[in-house]
Amino acid sequence: MARVCLTLAFQFIFCFFIIFATADDESFVRTVDRKLLGLKKEKLSHFRLYWHDILGGRNPTAVPVVPPSSNSSTAFGMISVIDDPLTLGPQLSSKMVGRAQGFYASASQQEVGLLMAMNFAFMEGKYNGSTITVLGRNTVFPKMREMPVIGGSGLFRFARGYVQARTHRFDPTTGDAVVEYNCYVMHY
Ligand SMILES: *[C@@H]1O[C@H](CO)[C@@H](O)[C@H](O)[C@H]1NC(C)=O
Ligand SMILES: *[C@@H]1O[C@H](CO)[C@@H](O)[C@H](O)[C@H]1NC(C)=O
Repeated sequence: MARVCLTLAFQFIFCFFIIFATADDESFVRTVDRKLLGLKKEKLSHFRLYWHDILGGRNPTAVPVVPPSSNSSTAFGMISVIDDPLTLGPQLSSKMVGRAQGFYASASQQEVGLLMAMNFAFMEGKYNGSTITVLGRNTVFPKMREMPVIGGSGLFRFARGYVQARTHRFDPTTGDAVVEYNCYVMHY
């Protein structure tokens, strides 16, 4: 009888321990009042930027790092890393407010379809050091392409939204492109 009691007592302690351990495991997450992080009212910002993708010349801003598969009309498999100036006007000489850093990869075999993965790193005024992250599909040829804004940092913490890209100028000989980006971003 004593033995049975002892076993039961052990089982009880063991169960108790498991329940406690489980509760402990979740205690690293807690709810925080957003005011403690200085987050007041969510707002919607729109900004228009021109994205300069320069492939040719001595100072390219887009560098192919993986060549396309040899037998592909859509450059399937190609990956280019970019550090593209973002300017306020369509001319490269207009004011630069940031850079689009990341890569694009040709991810479609049926048509030209790029996976764009880039951070818009802002360098102007109070936005200096803040970023938004654009991740989406860019089919390049339609008049307008839309891609999600999936996040941000600094003044763009908790960012979500979308960008609309329209090709402003494309040079078929060099491959250089200027693309107008209209960004609509919800953030605090
Ligand atoms: C490319 O692939 C297609 C279909 O697989 C084939 O018919 C064609 O001959 C290939 N072309 C070359 C240049 O390899
Ligand atoms: C942006 O911030 C960097 C580093 O904090 C600084 O060196 C640079 O001068 C700033 N640029 C502008 C335009 O304020």
